[in-house]
Amino acid sequence: MKDLLSSDHVEIDSILDELLAALEKDDAAEVFQKLDFFWARLAMHIRAEHLHLFPSILEAVQKGEPNEANDLNVSAKFLRDTLEQLKNDHNFFMRELGESVKQMLAMREDNWRDESDKLKVLRAKINVLRVRLERHNELEENYIYSRAEAFLPADVQRLRSKIQKELENLPSRFSKSG
Ligand SMILES: [Fe+2]
Ligand SMILES: [Fe+2]
Repeated sequence: MKDLLSSDHVEIDSILDELLAALEKDDAAEVFQKLDFFWARLAMHIRAEHLHLFPSILEAVQKGEPNEANDLNVSAKFLRDTLEQLKNDHNFFMRELGESVKQMLAMREDNWRDESDKLKVLRAKINVLRVRLERHNELEENYIYSRAEAFLPADVQRLRSKIQKELENLPSRFSKSG
């Protein structure tokens, strides 16, 4: 789990770097393309966590697994709170990126008028998102991904393949760009 989702973090980070480089260059058309791709890839990752990983962990917590009784109550509360926080982050990322894509569409419609000022605003927004995403990914990698394996030994293969499927489920509009 850790390998699968952590390496996806790395891939998504590198798309984010490309987006920030395009913003640095003030190249609106390229920004739009990278932003759209970043949004889609992060959405796929988040879907895998929302639909498969987080519910499986919550279910295990509710059932009182794992059997190692080392302060399970504390861990369960901690896990529930952490998952809640991570879900709030996901909502924030998707909302911000959805709005940004909408703004870029409006800019394109407007033939990129005043693009430089608008891109500056967008860059500030993406930088805020990047800081929150970094913290988010650290939290997942340190406390969630590693625990999923300990929590769900029987289910791990099934869960892995469901997650893998989501991570490969790239929207068709990107299939040609590779
Ligand atoms: Fe996440
Ligand atoms: Fe993640």
